[in-house]
Amino acid sequence: MIYLDNAATTFQKPPAVQRTLCEAMRRYGANAGRGGHKLSIAASEMVYKAGEAVAELFGIQDPANIAFTLNTTMALNMAIKGVLLKGGHVIITSMEHNSVARPVVRVAKNRYTVVRANRQGIVNPADVEAAIQDDTRLIVCNHASNVCGSIQDISEIGRIASGHGILFLVDVAQSGGVLPINVEKQHIDLLAFAGHKSLMGPQGTGGLYVREGLELDTILEGGTGSQSESLSQPINMPDRLMSGTVNMPAIAALGEGIRFVRKLGVGAIAAHEMKLAGRLMEGFGNIEGVTVYGPESVKNRVGVVSINIDGLDSITVSQILDQDFGICVRSGLHCAPLAHETIGTLENGTVRFSVGYYNTQSDVDRALTAVSKIKKGKYV
Ligand code: ALA
Repeated sequence: MIYLDNAATTFQKPPAVQRTLCEAMRRYGANAGRGGHKLSIAASEMVYKAGEAVAELFGIQDPANIAFTLNTTMALNMAIKGVLLKGGHVIITSMEHNSVARPVVRVAKNRYTVVRANRQGIVNPADVEAAIQDDTRLIVCNHASNVCGSIQDISEIGRIASGHGILFLVDVAQSGGVLPINVEKQHIDLLAFAGHKSLMGPQGTGGLYVREGLELDTILEGGTGSQSESLSQPINMPDRLMSGTVNMPAIAALGEGIRFVRKLGVGAIAAHEMKLAGRLMEGFGNIEGVTVYGPESVKNRVGVVSINIDGLDSITVSQILDQDFGICVRSGLHCAPLAHETIGTLENGTVRFSVGYYNTQSDVDRALTAVSKIKKGKYV
């Protein structure tokens, strides 16, 4: 089996991540932050250590400003609704996932602007600036597209947001662990991340960083293990956004995943994935009747390569890849119809190949051979 669906979640996880997950359950699987006994304290320490790992990776000063969530969608909902429940205009890009588009449409009603990216999926920061209105409170942008891998210039968009006194929320689901990210240098006020993709943690992990002093409205209230005498949600982070028992074993394992990434180096992981993505792009480009979407240069994308084969719908191609070649990819709209509309693939979707740290050149070459055979109709 060849796994090329790393944009959905990384399947192969480092052995240390798997060990930490099991050990957390076996040795200190108590409730973090909910007791004074040794096991609860050990569990709390693992969550704190994971917060430190996230903070070090993203240049965050205080790990207390990071709330762990179940996934990026939950973090984005908390950020978008937390800012916009009181009203105001919001700018998003046409490369956003439904985890941004749906909460924005629901909460902002008609007070939102979608800034269109070009056909390669790249947004011009000047267009974002031109969309700013008097009551714009938030700009939301994904760092790298889950559809075609295009990377946005978040440093420049962050500079624009900060210059206008507008909050900047970045979705780094596809870039955390493969692109350099620094909340201070890039003027990021809110950062939503996935733990289970390139940060190598288990599913059910993600998080939201909130800039010091920024108080979000809450969309979830409950027990935090703190200020229990009060019937109001605490103001202090991370308790404000972390009600209920956390997924401690998975968060502990996420911490280990981030330590793994930092040890290898984000740059080294990116170089490996870029090499594989470049090989895919070149190989697909050489097969007649195959269209490759997204930026022409691999330098402008993460390890996501979306294609279509003339005359075949994307779902059929992924089914053939799975059943006849043992290759796992994701096809269709990838929960991002705005992005597909932008690159011209709303009708058929695309067949998306997404590489990860554990993929090899041979995986990529087998995918190329498979697509070539499917195109020729000689795959059985
Ligand atoms: N958003 C994830 C993907 O693109 C799940 O597949």
